[in-house]
Amino acid sequence: MKLFIDTANVEEIREIASWGILEGVTTNPSLIAKEGRVFKEVIKEITEIVDGPISAEVISLKSEEMVQEAEELVKIHENIVIKIPMTEEGLKAVRILAQKGVKTNVTLVFSANQALMAAKAGATYVSPFLGRLDDIGHTGIDLVKEIVEIFDLYLIETEVIAASIRHTTHVVQAAKVGSHIATIPYGVFKQMAKHPLTDSGIERFLKDWEKAAK
Ligand code: E4P
Repeated sequence: MKLFIDTANVEEIREIASWGILEGVTTNPSLIAKEGRVFKEVIKEITEIVDGPISAEVISLKSEEMVQEAEELVKIHENIVIKIPMTEEGLKAVRILAQKGVKTNVTLVFSANQALMAAKAGATYVSPFLGRLDDIGHTGIDLVKEIVEIFDLYLIETEVIAASIRHTTHVVQAAKVGSHIATIPYGVFKQMAKHPLTDSGIERFLKDWEKAAK
């Protein structure tokens, strides 16, 4: 499973990229707004940090306008993936962009049928949102599992991005059900690297080392 970061904060991206494990980035309008910076400038800076797919989301709701936005965004860098909301207009835009060779990430996916249609339209990626499903009393990981099974059954090449990840258990669950990618917030990455037994183990080794003959 590939590990992407879900943020528009370049410092967070720089830090996780420095660990040598980061394979892509996803952003969304809320994450961009949080940074208080110019959208295209942030995206360009991200492309200079990570050599992998960088999702940038359109905000138009009409397919023609989505395509126009996409055409501007892909000029920033060849690694740009256009994030399109899972709507009827979104599907039309995905088809047009696929024909032009533009990669897309269909976002706000909450059912296997939505994922199937997005794949049929030519999406490069689909993003089922685990956390938001959990929030309303569903089991988000079941949807990821269902989509992976369907795509495997029909040899569909669209990759599944487990999104809206809230904690480290979500990441393990996504890996176990065969999600191709998990897009993970900065804080969850930090938790994933940590274990109390690692910390106490280092402390004990260093203490013992003080007593060792050198
Ligand atoms: C996916 O690409 C989205 O940016 C993201 O995972 C949304 O997560 P949230 O539910 O925490 O906003």
